[in-house]
Amino acid sequence: MIRRIKGTLDVFGEQACLWRYIESTFIETVRSFNYREVRTPIIEPVELFVRSVGEETDIVRKEMYVFEDKGGRRVALRPEGTAGIVRAYIENGMNRFGAPQKFFYIGAMFRYEKPQAGRQRQFHQLGVEVFGSPSPFADVETIHIAMKFLKNLGLDDARLHVNSIGCPKCRPSYKDALKKYYSEYLQELCEDCRIRYDRNVLRLLDCKVDSSIAEKAPRIQEFLCDECREHFVKVCKALDTLNLKYTVDPKLVRGLDYYTRTTYEIKVPYLGAQDTLIGGGRYDNLVRELGGPSTPAVGFAGGIERIALALEKKGIVVPRDILIYVATAGQDDTYAAAITVAETLRDRGFCVEIDLMERSLTSQMRYANRAKADYVVMVGEDELREGKFTLRDMKTGEQRKLTLHEMVEVLEKACKPLHGDS
Ligand code: HAM
Repeated sequence: MIRRIKGTLDVFGEQACLWRYIESTFIETVRSFNYREVRTPIIEPVELFVRSVGEETDIVRKEMYVFEDKGGRRVALRPEGTAGIVRAYIENGMNRFGAPQKFFYIGAMFRYEKPQAGRQRQFHQLGVEVFGSPSPFADVETIHIAMKFLKNLGLDDARLHVNSIGCPKCRPSYKDALKKYYSEYLQELCEDCRIRYDRNVLRLLDCKVDSSIAEKAPRIQEFLCDECREHFVKVCKALDTLNLKYTVDPKLVRGLDYYTRTTYEIKVPYLGAQDTLIGGGRYDNLVRELGGPSTPAVGFAGGIERIALALEKKGIVVPRDILIYVATAGQDDTYAAAITVAETLRDRGFCVEIDLMERSLTSQMRYANRAKADYVVMVGEDELREGKFTLRDMKTGEQRKLTLHEMVEVLEKACKPLHGDS
């Protein structure tokens, strides 16, 4: 038997419904803020991620799927979405459409990590990116979207953590201070952190092995330049205005190199080590660094697998469509009538199944029960003769004989509140 590749998932049944629910809730949320979809390739030149995510990051050093294609090009499976969207923004000259440009995306990403609950090698992100606005209001709009999306899903206990990691003007002096501080602890650092000390000192703050040294490290807030400090104060004020609760976390530096100023993560307290559902921040220099016109930008991405885990942990179930099963008593003319009934109901927006197995009526009823049908419409010889069909409410067992017109009325009345639009 051929098995799926380690770190990948087959998504089907209830799980697929949950994913679809997460995606459609996300799309509804971003649409209400007028974000437009962007779809970029899964394969991109390796160079794109080396130059954006950063040569010294774990993602680029250890986790990228890289190969040579038949034309000898060095290609990577995208480990995240932002870099490809920035490339697309530049390559398609999207700056000519004015500012801000607001995008959303959903898609598969690939990182060769150690698989565990909430961490896959092929995983799926949904995210937004805003181009062209240097304003803290843009940072806060993306946070607002992220929080509202989680709330719309039922995850109203998600916690927002924010920080500012400064800009190329003020960050070097902070890095120097960190180096000085950590130089006294070099022997105590984990192996990875000893490498990070030389290559990417900010990442020492977010060591998962030992956080006690980081607790006493110098804080970035004391090193921010006036512009970065003012930006961060405005972000916090706008969050207050929106009544979004947050914790300022000076250790929140994120694992990708392109960030400037605001960084943020949204976590839930019941997912163990992989508790970050959404991560994002501002990246004002990336468009220029990749060869485009100087364009400030900000965005986030969330992991569908982790959000699904959080929903399962909380016991949140996907609102289900009302299901109507149209049962037939087998003859050709009852089949034709059943199709008409089913189509009439489908055209009214109901989810309707008919028998595809040519089973007996008893077996069809058993199937309808197993499929958790809310109603069964029975179409038999008697019903055809009378021009009325039997409608059975599967919850109460109540049965009534109704014309098609009456049945539509009864079902629309009974189901409207469940569709939420009465
Ligand atoms: P990131 O923090 O690397 O940021 O990933 C964002 C989210 O993707 C994480 O919070 C997590 O939910 C999910 N995720 C990451 N790796 C895995 C994995 N191996 N398995 C399952 N889920 C995972 C970014 O990717 C940035 N591009 C976000 C961004 C957009 N910043 C600005 N714009």
